[in-house]
Amino acid sequence: MKNIILIGFMGVGKGSVAREVTNHSNYITIDTDDIIESMTNKKIKDIFGDEGESHFRKLEKNISHWLENSVKDTLISTGGGFYKVKNLKKIGIVILLDSPFEEIIKRIKAHPNAERKLRKRPLLKDLKKAKELYNQRRPEYLKLADIVVDVTNKSAKECSKELLKKVKKYA
Ligand code: S3P
Repeated sequence: MKNIILIGFMGVGKGSVAREVTNHSNYITIDTDDIIESMTNKKIKDIFGDEGESHFRKLEKNISHWLENSVKDTLISTGGGFYKVKNLKKIGIVILLDSPFEEIIKRIKAHPNAERKLRKRPLLKDLKKAKELYNQRRPEYLKLADIVVDVTNKSAKECSKELLKKVKKYA
């Protein structure tokens, strides 16, 4: 089994889809943001606040080397900016979870923990800037993706089924 690496914009549902896939396959899931938080014993928003975004990106880069060299048979969920690491395609099959910006924001706001979801993501603080970031990133995401799953108006379970079907064909 090759690694699967989930990319996509903040709030698109990478974590929820990853959990569903894990429940319905032999993949174990890890998450790059969780690894960074446990490595540093700090919340992402505090790393951004104390050391700055560039430090966070360095940590992502370090993790990307470890993933490439040491992780196998795993579903790797990533932070929305992780796709920039140079060795992304060497880590595994790249799957983009895709949705229009407005749908992503609608989805986050409809969540019972919406406040917390927005608060923990420094780059979602200013929605105008976040939209610009989305517009800049989306073509880059599409270029890197081996598989695209459109998550708009679909449950995590539906997305996970579609993902596993597409991975089977791809492998
Ligand atoms: C980021 C996305 C976040 C987290 C950090 C930066 C980004 O992860 O890695 O706040 O650059 O898009 P999620 O995509 O899980 O929100």
